[in-house]
Amino acid sequence: MTEDLINNKDKYFPSYIGTNDNLNNLLNRASQTLCDWFSKAYRNGPLPFDENFKCIMPGEDGNSAEDLFSEIESLLKNSFNPVHPGSLAHLDPPPLIFSILGDLIAAALNNNLLAYELSPGVTLLEESLCKWFAKKIGFNDSSGGIAASGGTLSNLNALIAARNNAGLGSDPNCVLIVSEDAHSSFIKCTRIMGLDATNLVRIKTDNNGCMDIQNLRKTLDNCLIENKKIFAIVATLGTTVRGAIDPIKEISDICKEKNIWLHIDGSIGGIFAITSIPIEGLNNINQSNSITINPQKIIGITKTSSLLLVSDKSTLENTFSTGLPYISTKEDIKNRGEIGIQGSRPAEVIKLWLGLRFLGLNGIEDILKSSIKRKDFLLKNISKNKFEIYSGPLHIVSFLPKGLAPKETDSWTKTKINELMKNKYMLSRPRFKGKYFLRVVMGNYNTKESHIEELLKLLDTHQ
Ligand SMILES: Cc1ncc(COP(=O)(O)O)c(C=O)c1O
Repeated sequence: MTEDLINNKDKYFPSYIGTNDNLNNLLNRASQTLCDWFSKAYRNGPLPFDENFKCIMPGEDGNSAEDLFSEIESLLKNSFNPVHPGSLAHLDPPPLIFSILGDLIAAALNNNLLAYELSPGVTLLEESLCKWFAKKIGFNDSSGGIAASGGTLSNLNALIAARNNAGLGSDPNCVLIVSEDAHSSFIKCTRIMGLDATNLVRIKTDNNGCMDIQNLRKTLDNCLIENKKIFAIVATLGTTVRGAIDPIKEISDICKEKNIWLHIDGSIGGIFAITSIPIEGLNNINQSNSITINPQKIIGITKTSSLLLVSDKSTLENTFSTGLPYISTKEDIKNRGEIGIQGSRPAEVIKLWLGLRFLGLNGIEDILKSSIKRKDFLLKNISKNKFEIYSGPLHIVSFLPKGLAPKETDSWTKTKINELMKNKYMLSRPRFKGKYFLRVVMGNYNTKESHIEELLKLLDTHQ
């Protein structure tokens, strides 16, 4: 080996020998930069953005660390900051500190969940964690699961498995049943599955935002008459706009009676099922065939982190296995690229595992309970005379001044969002029931009652 090669040993990649000073220095500096960014959030607000932000593209020669750190700083200055207590718009809470570490470790390992031979430890970790979750929610020994990059992909994994399981893979008459308040990912899923709007049947919701069982029964009868073949019914465990929970017991009874796959979209509320928090409606989820649990959305596992748990793991193998001709197999261990849609996949399970190990069940409960407590505090103090309010058992509240005509809600919510943002409160404006609402998601552990009081005062002042 030449002298030159030895001196440059950790120029591009980590070195397999020596102290890796280059990387060590980079990581130290990066961690200082990030910690500064977090701790300056109180000054910059939840969504600082400079319209002049420049996206600089790669040139002929590589850039120095100085240049790159200055660009990293500029990127940070123009990024949504989830740790600010006014970050209340979406299901994007502050990142758990051990999950940040998990992402770093996953990136450094650069292992691939496609195959056991490319990620032996991580493959076993993901398999074990899926089993642990499955047991926690009451599935039996045949259960299993697969991680995916987000709730949409977990739902898609489930629906493809459900359709395959029903033997309806290429049947244009197959339908999926969801409630009218189910997440828009089901529209995307049906499109990806080669279906269209006629294959997605929506069931009315009641006053609490829960699937109306009578309407479900009637729809099932109509489907029979119209020769539509149902490959799955989705019960939502936590709707996006108001956090409602569909009546899982009744839906699961119907699914059993009619031999239909029950998928639970627990992207928001599923994580509650591993705790002892008594959430109304959160029972019988072990009667489902599959459930999406998306811990990035409340407890701060860094994005993305989503699991699909299935009561019978062979349904995933039967659906997705191709034989992967270029990858070795090992008896009793599934290559995880063979039980889900994704092929190459990062070791996202590390940040979930580290986050959960760090919190323990008590820490998870603490975070979830605190979210509900903040929601309850907001509900207790918001004026019921002034606002039309939609909420449910979870931590989401959508509201609008009473008496606004639907077409006035667009400009009212836009103006309000801007006013609140000037005061460092970031809310969202979902469209719901033909109107625009303001939505608060109370998943931010840094938000205190004093912040909620200030937010309510701002809403009052500017109404
Ligand atoms: C109920 C529900 N399901 C699924 C999703 C999709 O999750 P993701 O954005 O991680 O794909 C969301 C997103 O907010 C959701 O609220």
